[in-house]
Amino acid sequence: MRLDKAHVSPSSPSVLAQLEGIQDRFRTALSGLDSELALRTARAELLGKKGELTAILRGMAQVPPDQKKQVGEAVNRVREELEAIFEAALVDLKRKQRAAELAGPPFDLSMPGRPIPRGHRHPVSLVMDEVLDIFRSLGFEIAWGPEVELEVNNFEKLAFPPDHPATDMQDTFWVDVAGAPAKWRTLLRTHTSSVQVREMSDHGPPLALVSGGAVYRRDDDVTHSPMFHQIEGFYVARDVSFAELKGVLTAFTQRLYGESTPIRFRPSYFPFVEPGAEADVGCVFCSEEDGTRAACRVCKGTGWLEVLGCGMIHPSVLTATGIDPEWYSGFAFGLGVERIAMLRYGIPDIRVLFENDPRFLAQF
Ligand code: DAH
Repeated sequence: MRLDKAHVSPSSPSVLAQLEGIQDRFRTALSGLDSELALRTARAELLGKKGELTAILRGMAQVPPDQKKQVGEAVNRVREELEAIFEAALVDLKRKQRAAELAGPPFDLSMPGRPIPRGHRHPVSLVMDEVLDIFRSLGFEIAWGPEVELEVNNFEKLAFPPDHPATDMQDTFWVDVAGAPAKWRTLLRTHTSSVQVREMSDHGPPLALVSGGAVYRRDDDVTHSPMFHQIEGFYVARDVSFAELKGVLTAFTQRLYGESTPIRFRPSYFPFVEPGAEADVGCVFCSEEDGTRAACRVCKGTGWLEVLGCGMIHPSVLTATGIDPEWYSGFAFGLGVERIAMLRYGIPDIRVLFENDPRFLAQF
């Protein structure tokens, strides 16, 4: 820079003198710096709000009005030159850094990257599909029903008497009680048996359907979750017998747990079937031969695990859904998916299915 001293008055020299040589000092200072941060800091010390140049500018107040223009131009020129020095130093630094990078040891491009773990389906959903597939292969079709269900479909048409302690046995989450007429009252379905009512009301026999999904009960303790999953199946046609029910469920058990898995039927009570039964399969956690049976905590030493409820559809359920019980008969069954998953994968504690611990879920 050339400061044109000839054109400035005696009162301006202090500003001009201060500008003198400032570029050389700046250039020298920048040349010793080896990081962008250091360069920017040096720039701020000179050109920033509290910088040296800004301080010099304050001296402008003393410059007589008729010389302000010239001194101002000089100051602006210096500022532009300083900016240019800074930009050049930055470009120079980047070039040096790049050269050093190229000269240094090369990156190992063959080094494996960090793996991105792939997710997969939850064991409950895997088992749900597996079970539905087995029934599909036995000739059943898939049906669907809503989780928010009419009370009549969940209880009444399944022959639960009005005073039935369903609220004890299947403590219910009500969705809509206040003011709703009885026939429009809704709840979170307590079981998938409500799908029977819907399908039988909408379609005449023959029907062979399975339906899976979430169900809800006001239960929450170590062995119960307020939300769990069930699969319901039913077959309605002419002359359906209990023997067919046993045949279908035996074939199902053997496909799911293996040919040699035993199944047994015990009489039991559900309002919507007559006769009703519960089915047990042989415990998969222990065996008599290796002496682990007596101490087995899962089957409590009995060798049997309860897996489903079933029975012949009650004539009053057929009637309530518009099917003539004199002409048609049917069987139905309902099973808990979490329970099946536990037996399928040897999981002794139901809670781990809902804790979502990746160390557990990664094992499937
Ligand atoms: N709905 C019953 C429950 O949730 C299970 C059940 C039992 C379903 C017997 C059926 C059946 O279809 O026949 O406990």
